[in-house]
Amino acid sequence: MTNQLCIVLDFGGQYNQLIARRVRECGVYCEIKKFDTPIEEIKALNPAGIIFTGGPNSVYDETSPHISKEIFELGIPVLGICYGCQLMAYTLGGTVSTCVTSEYGKTEIKSDSSCAVFKGVPEQNTVWMSHTDYISQIPEGFSITATSKDCPCAAMACPEKKLYAVQFHPEVTHSEYGKEILRNFLFEVCDFTGDWKMDNFIEETVAKLREKIGDKKVVLGLSGGVDSSVAAGLLSRAVGKQLTCVFVDQGLMRKDEGDFVEETFTRLFDMNFVRVNCQKQFLEKLKGVTDPEQKRKIIGTEFYKVFWDKVREEAEGGFFAQGTIYPDRIESGKGNASGKGSTATIKTHHNMVEMPKDITFDGIIEPLGDLFKDEVRQVGEKLGIPHELVWRQPFPGPGLGVRIIGEITEEKVKILQEADAVFRDEIKKSGIESELKQFFAVLPDVKTVGVMGDHRTYDHLIAIRAVTTDDFMTADWARIPYDVLAKVSNRLCNEVEHVNRVVYDITSKPPGTVEWE
Ligand code: XMP
Repeated sequence: MTNQLCIVLDFGGQYNQLIARRVRECGVYCEIKKFDTPIEEIKALNPAGIIFTGGPNSVYDETSPHISKEIFELGIPVLGICYGCQLMAYTLGGTVSTCVTSEYGKTEIKSDSSCAVFKGVPEQNTVWMSHTDYISQIPEGFSITATSKDCPCAAMACPEKKLYAVQFHPEVTHSEYGKEILRNFLFEVCDFTGDWKMDNFIEETVAKLREKIGDKKVVLGLSGGVDSSVAAGLLSRAVGKQLTCVFVDQGLMRKDEGDFVEETFTRLFDMNFVRVNCQKQFLEKLKGVTDPEQKRKIIGTEFYKVFWDKVREEAEGGFFAQGTIYPDRIESGKGNASGKGSTATIKTHHNMVEMPKDITFDGIIEPLGDLFKDEVRQVGEKLGIPHELVWRQPFPGPGLGVRIIGEITEEKVKILQEADAVFRDEIKKSGIESELKQFFAVLPDVKTVGVMGDHRTYDHLIAIRAVTTDDFMTADWARIPYDVLAKVSNRLCNEVEHVNRVVYDITSKPPGTVEWE
């Protein structure tokens, strides 16, 4: 079965992935395409609805992304958002002007509930605006369906042609009825059936994987992170023992994490699970190395060396699978200085690993390539992967290697693992875990003087880090209550050997980063 498709045409705005995610949350399969995708290609995809995103530009700017009038003549419903709204007006003969007062932030609008997209939305409601241009004259055949104090056209529509446009951003949560407005467009205007469900996704993907793989083998590098774990779960359901997961444990994971990953995958899934324990080998390579970038490089290089060696030994041939997800593959529609977005960069493929020349596969399989992170998590839950793993915090590839400042030794790894486990345990017990996006301990390789009983001590300092953030591009340090900090500090000094002092990192990002190295 093929799902009905909604296309989000990307004009380079900042909320483009968010629009697609919101559409998918409504049970409608949605793909993001660049604004200059040829009309023929769009027609061939047969979408039941198209959404134009916002963009950073003015429609009169020559380098701005534009679109051919033809798109409005296909009979496919279109919803224009922000720049997309202005572009619809401009392309169809309306006028766009610069605002006397640009609108930014929460804004009251008056909308017309007899317009399909405002069905069930109270006349007076709050939306999120962010624009300096506005539609001063709507195109022929359109009517104004919402206004605000400073914007005579906060929304417009031409129901006969199924064209709708809103100056505000229904996709952000600050728009009080944004979800309803998107739902109305999808279900009242486009007649989507809402056939995009994760249960169907699992069934269909498993069937497709079986057909593609046949009786061949598949190898997957398992890191214990969300994406590779869910990919492993799906592949195991599809082809069982034909799948080999290679799990390289470099000895720089959190306390007991390697065992947890092994226990989980061998208990839950039918597959060949190969764990390579190589802490000694890694520590040997890292001996005497203190420079953060060099440490990262060594850990990365060594990781793939071990991984490919194991693949040669255990699982050469067949297919190579990886946990790439949709945001890794999306091309941005952002324009560039020289023209109309023709050289927009493709996001770095963080999952892509360079394959050694002597290893050949029949092909690459990316079973999660169409999913957003929250959908990957839903699939993981449905496959029975433990909550702890599916909702795991981000953990850097080089592991504790970038949380031990200076040279990495076995003893320091042990101290940090213990300290981190105590900190995590105390946060769990405190009931504030869900408020924190990421929290961990750091070993700054600093020794300080302390006193224990009658003895002077000279031992390690532990730093604790906890942040709140939406996207990790910026972050704030979490205001952990003092009594929780007090318990953490007490337990770290009393329970973790070689720790006699604790500090709390109160640096936001920027200027700091989340990790210390
Ligand atoms: P920074 O330290 O750059 O971290 O503020 C932002 C987020 O990225 C994670 N991080 C990494 N993740 N490999 C990864 O997969 C890495 O090398 C790496 N470095 C940082 C970090 O934990 C935080 O969530």
